[in-house]
Amino acid sequence: MKKGIIVVNAYSDNADYLYQADRLREEFALRGVCVEVVKNYCGIAGIQKNGKIALQEKGDFAVFLDKDKYIMRLLEKAGVRLFNSARAIEVCDDKMLTHIALSQAGISMPAVVPAPLCYTPEAEIGKAYCDNVIAALGLPVVVKHSYGSLGKEVFLADDAEALCAYAQQLRFTPHFYQQFIAESRGRDLRVVVVGGKAIAAMTRTAEKGEFRSNAARGGRCETFPLDAELCSLAEKIAATLGLDYCGMDFLFGKEGLLLCEVNSNAYFKALERTTGVNVAAAYAEYILRTV
Ligand SMILES: Nc1ncnc2c1ncn2[C@@H]1O[C@H](COP(=O)(O)OP(=O)(O)O)[C@@H](O)[C@H]1O
Ligand SMILES: [Mg+2]
Repeated sequence: MKKGIIVVNAYSDNADYLYQADRLREEFALRGVCVEVVKNYCGIAGIQKNGKIALQEKGDFAVFLDKDKYIMRLLEKAGVRLFNSARAIEVCDDKMLTHIALSQAGISMPAVVPAPLCYTPEAEIGKAYCDNVIAALGLPVVVKHSYGSLGKEVFLADDAEALCAYAQQLRFTPHFYQQFIAESRGRDLRVVVVGGKAIAAMTRTAEKGEFRSNAARGGRCETFPLDAELCSLAEKIAATLGLDYCGMDFLFGKEGLLLCEVNSNAYFKALERTTGVNVAAAYAEYILRTV
C-alpha cells in the first residue's frame, strides 16, 4: 500500500488554506489510503553530518501545499514524489519567473518588465526609471510583488508619481510591472487543471471600485463553461510548467484571453462550491494513478 503525506505551512491557520488538506485527506481515505497532514516545522527534513537526508515522515509521495523550497528539495532528493514538483512550485511562486518560463511558448500574457534588485539602502528611484516603465507598459500600470497571493500584493499605479512611490517603497522586494488589461478590470477567469486535464472554470467579479477579483477579496464566483479551446490553452500552460495541479487566472483582453498568473497551490474551496466539481477527488485519483 502506498503511503503519503500532505505538507502544509506551519504558520498558516487560514481555514480556506487548511480546507485543501482536509478535503484531500478525506478523498484519499475514501480510496483506502491513509495520508497524514504534516506541518513544515523546523526539523521535518535536514541533512546529517554524513550528508544523508533525514526525514521525519517517510512516504512514497507528498502533496506539497506549501512553497518552502528547502523542504521540497530535500524531500525530492530523498526520493519522495512531490505533487507538484519543487521546480514547478518555484516557477509559479515567482510570478516573473512564470512569465519567463512561458515566454516564446505562444501564450498571450500582459506585457511585463522586471524591477531591478536593489542592495543600496540610500538608493533613490529616479524619474528615468519610471519613464521607462511607462514607455513600455503605459498607464495605469500594475505593480506586483513577484511572490504574492490572494490579491494582497497587487497594486495599480494611475500616474508616474504613484508608480515612483511604489518603486521606491518596493526597491528591496522582488517585484515587476505588468500592463493593465483595462477591459478585464475587476473580472478574471480561474481554470483548474489536474493531471493534464482542465476540469473546472469560474469567473470572479470584484466588488465595485476594486480591480482585483480574488475570491479572498470578495470576488463573486460564477461557473464558466470549459470549451475545447479553453481546455487546450489551459492544458498547454500546465504542461509547459510541468504542473500536476494548478489554478490559473486569465484576463479578458480585447483579442481574447491573456494569462495573468498560475497558482501551483490554488485554493479550491470556492471553485468546488461554485462549480460542483470535486477537485480533491480528481487530484487524489490522479496522484494514486501516478505513484
Ligand atoms: N494586468 C492586470 N490587468 C488587470 N487586472 C489585473 C492584472 N493583474 C492582476 N489583475 C487583477 O488582480 C487580481 C490579482 O492578481 P494576481 O496576479 O492573480 O495576484 P494574486 O496571486 O494575488 O491572486 C487578478 O485576479 C485580477 O483580477
Ligand atoms: Mg491570482
